[in-house]
Amino acid sequence: MKDSATLKAAVQRFWDTRPCGAKNTTAEPGTRAFYEEIEAHRYREEFHIPLVAEFGDHPGERMLEIGCGLGTDGRQFVRGGANYYSVKADFSVWPDLRNTLLAGYVGL
Ligand SMILES: C[S@@+](CC[C@H](N)C(=O)[O-])C[C@H]1O[C@@H](n2cnc3c(N)ncnc32)[C@H](O)[C@@H]1O
Repeated sequence: MKDSATLKAAVQRFWDTRPCGAKNTTAEPGTRAFYEEIEAHRYREEFHIPLVAEFGDHPGERMLEIGCGLGTDGRQFVRGGANYYSVKADFSVWPDLRNTLLAGYVGL
């Protein structure tokens, strides 16, 4: 059985090298196409997510997502008017993520 620190490091390594959805696009990381292709694939293949998350039904609510990945779901909450916050273990790998969350795709 791995100790807690070892397990956490392994989890972080996993997400550092496999950002959620990145395998579903061939676009250059950080470009608009990169995020759009990941988003299209995610909701085509995992169509239950918008049904469960009800992205547009939380305007003005404060929301915290622990582990936002590439911000795909987060952007939907932002577009729906939620006051969205997130933390993630591998933020430094994708420094442009903050822009995509704060302003949709502005800045890309
Ligand atoms: C399945 S992805 C999240 C998917 C996200 N909802 C999206 O739209 O792409 C899981 C995320 O959780 C993060 N994570 C895993 N363990 C964490 C921890 N202990 N603290 C913060 N973030 C963590 C990973 O870095 C990864 O970004």
